[in-house]
Amino acid sequence: MRETTLMNKKIYIETYGCQMNVSDSEVIFSILGKEGYERTLEMEEADLILANTCSVRDNAEQRIWGRIEQFHKMKESRPDVIVGIVGCMAERLKDKLIETGKVDLVAGPDAYRSLPGLLRDISPDNPRINVMLSHEETYADIVPVRTDRNGVSAFISIMRGCNNVCSYCVVPYTRGAERSRDPETIVNEARDVFGKGYKEVTLLGQNVDSYLWKSEGRTVSFPELLEMVARISPDLRVRFATNHPKDISDELIETMAAYDNICNHIHLPVQSGSNRLLEKMRRRYTREWYLERVAKIREVLPGCGITTDVIAGFCSETEEDHQDTLSLFREVGFDYAYMFYYSERPGTLAARNYPDDVPLEVKTRRLNEIIALQTELSLESNRKDVGKTFRVLVEGPSKKNPEELCGRAGNDKMCVFPGKGLKAGDYADVRIASCTSATLIGEIV
Ligand code: SAH
Ligand code: SF4
Ligand code: F3S
Repeated sequence: MRETTLMNKKIYIETYGCQMNVSDSEVIFSILGKEGYERTLEMEEADLILANTCSVRDNAEQRIWGRIEQFHKMKESRPDVIVGIVGCMAERLKDKLIETGKVDLVAGPDAYRSLPGLLRDISPDNPRINVMLSHEETYADIVPVRTDRNGVSAFISIMRGCNNVCSYCVVPYTRGAERSRDPETIVNEARDVFGKGYKEVTLLGQNVDSYLWKSEGRTVSFPELLEMVARISPDLRVRFATNHPKDISDELIETMAAYDNICNHIHLPVQSGSNRLLEKMRRRYTREWYLERVAKIREVLPGCGITTDVIAGFCSETEEDHQDTLSLFREVGFDYAYMFYYSERPGTLAARNYPDDVPLEVKTRRLNEIIALQTELSLESNRKDVGKTFRVLVEGPSKKNPEELCGRAGNDKMCVFPGKGLKAGDYADVRIASCTSATLIGEIV
């Protein structure tokens, strides 16, 4: 009876947070697809609504609380709809979500294989929860249902969890211990998407430099894995994120130099330019170490895109610490940055040990100063690319002008250019003629 009612049900997933969540939603579609659930893009026709959530900053969670209210309102007219919260916020808040009486299902990032079982048992007065973290789960054998729009670029998760305990960060608590995925399954997945017409894969992990597969006396490091993927075809571009400054190795930088199809872009989150704060954040590198790594990248990979993450207003940050961050930004001249102000996360080392003592208006002002500086730096960096020619992978029509195409250069910069006859997935050699702080503008040569 139950079996037949599960058939042809529709599932709608909203994904928040990082690319890892995007990749996990693809795993969930795959697991539930086998149970007869069909993906829909219309929430109104869904039988099962899942929000795959993020806890990294308080405002990420506030958005979800707002969505939970909206889902609940929708249930007034459609009481049979199942509402589930999965991902990092599910892991962090556990039964607190069930206690609202507005959520039927809660599943943490390592519990997705149990979703079919949980769904079978669910009823309005029997909400179900599984937030067990695992030391082994990598979903290695699951073929994700791709949810990207253009069929050009695919994300492949190579590891899960994180073993660094940066004092501000909730991720180790929501995603558990670090574990690496079997390299054969990664290479097979990359080969499979390439066979389906994809031209780019991005290998994902919280700290890809510490990827390490051990089995029967054999080990595979991240540079080795990268090489295995790069060898699939010179027409398959390979990207990866995120690198940790304390772990990024010469071997990785040299492997990047050895293969044309490994994109010259490194996302290297710095978080702060002040040694005192880096120590307090437990990042385990210094400003000098970071600058030396950047110098090495620039020496071996001239023109390599370098992007970063930064936090303004971490506990006890002084004006001098903030100036250290600005001066580090100037010194490196980042191509792009993801910039945030500190948001205290309950349970983290920082929340337990250091008062969140930088007033909000000071955090906001410092963040705005970093943003203003980065806008200048991005423009400066883009100007240096005017006159150069890049191999661009076409993603589709440009958002602003559908007559033109857009796609990324190897250094990760977005390029816009007229390109009659070309389509998503084609490569184009584009000569850059002008730029804004966000985009390179060029012509095919
Ligand atoms: N593993 C990656 C980061 C993942 S979280 C790394 O180590 O770099 C993505 C970014 O969110 C972090 O780089 C950091 O800049 C930001 N972030 C994490 N916790 C935060 C917090 N409590 N408040 C503000 N920003 C935070
Ligand atoms: Fe968080 Fe640090 Fe792990 Fe990145 S490396 S996920 S910032 S604990
Ligand atoms: Fe990603 Fe947010 Fe979780 S950044 S790992 S979804 S807390």
